[in-house]
Amino acid sequence: MNDLLPGELGGDMAPVEVWQHVERTARELFSRFGYGEIRTPVVEDTALFVRSVGEETDIVGKEMYTFEDKGGRSLSLRPEGTAPAVRSFIEHSVANQEPLTRWYYIGPMFRYERMKTGRYRQFFQIGAEAIGSREAAQDVELMDLVVQLLEALGLKEVSLNLNSLGDDACRPAFQQKLVEYLTAHRAELCEDCQRRLENNPMRVLDCKNEKCQAVVRSAPNILQFLCEPCKAHFEEVKRKLDALGVRYVINSQIVRGLDYYTRTTFEFIAAHPALGTASTVGGGGRYDKLLKSLGGPDLPAVGFGLGLDRLTLLLKEGGQKYGAPPDVFIAVADEGSADAAFTLASKLRREGLRVEFDTRGGSLKSQMKRADKTKARFALVLGQAERESGKAQLKPMAGGEPIPVALTEVAQTVRAAPQG
Ligand code: HAM
Repeated sequence: MNDLLPGELGGDMAPVEVWQHVERTARELFSRFGYGEIRTPVVEDTALFVRSVGEETDIVGKEMYTFEDKGGRSLSLRPEGTAPAVRSFIEHSVANQEPLTRWYYIGPMFRYERMKTGRYRQFFQIGAEAIGSREAAQDVELMDLVVQLLEALGLKEVSLNLNSLGDDACRPAFQQKLVEYLTAHRAELCEDCQRRLENNPMRVLDCKNEKCQAVVRSAPNILQFLCEPCKAHFEEVKRKLDALGVRYVINSQIVRGLDYYTRTTFEFIAAHPALGTASTVGGGGRYDKLLKSLGGPDLPAVGFGLGLDRLTLLLKEGGQKYGAPPDVFIAVADEGSADAAFTLASKLRREGLRVEFDTRGGSLKSQMKRADKTKARFALVLGQAERESGKAQLKPMAGGEPIPVALTEVAQTVRAAPQG
């Protein structure tokens, strides 16, 4: 689990300003797409995740932070956001109030994973869920949203991998063929996959072990088993992505590590060394059966989750800097001017400027050193002469001629000064 710190203090993690930039950009896009924010608790009944994500998944089987509260209930830190969103949707009878619901969330998730770059035990997701539409347009709207977010962030080397997992009508036949095939190659599979073969055979398809991947290359392909309605849905998703000009690759190994998916699944994968093997920046898909299976209305749904930690790492590697330096650094020339300078700083902030003032006091020289360090655009030195004349100078810290300014007009003058 990581501390996120501002500026240069962040260590291996991206500075918090980069996080804020991604979050701001995402919120703006969600608002354009008509998604409202939800904030659910970070703990839920353990049973919620067992019933949705699935008992046999790594997430529930090995990675949940589960504990008993003082009332003897089994609770878990949420490992993902879809199940809590659905729980909340059902609990508040949202379906009775609107036919189509679009929600998003930004917050911490918890998985007891083996730590490495881009893989943490507390990590953050930006997620969205759309409940109520079974049409391909809904799947594509969500993928388009992610594409636009990545574009707005300037992240180019991310590819959309697309698959369909079929539904109850067609998946069992595929699974049977898959199990037959994998059983014949059992000895070539890693230990984990030998176990998966018994309780979650589809997961073998996205095992990263090279030996397993070799086996998987010739395994039956889910896309060849889709029933007519699933095939039609998949074709429509592709057609609509094409119509929007969204590029994607078909990848029948995108099975996802959670059990609730039906039909469309997708992952956004970044080819960037900064992420190492943690190259999936986001994933999602349809979960048309989940609401009913959790005791809610029989409504189709689709969503995605993006790894905020991974997005910020990519931006950090790209060298982008966010967070603005001060407009003005107010320096105190003599002790008698300290109060006036402090008051001026406060007033300028009220007028909308970013202002830094060294509350420790100290010599003018040390204050100017600090002004330099903060990369303030201007320094304004306030002493007795300035107080008496009501005039001062805005000294451009990057060099250039000082600008004379009336103390009553600092904000206007700073705003009007040419950027350089
Ligand atoms: P997920 O694929 O488990 O899907 O997680 C989504 C994203 O969260 C991953 O692609 C990755 O970027 C990030 N992530 C996952 N685990 C970690 C970790 N340990 N450290 C850092 N980042 C991580 C879901 O969670 C689904 N709820 C997505 C969804 C929403 N499907 C439908 N609606």
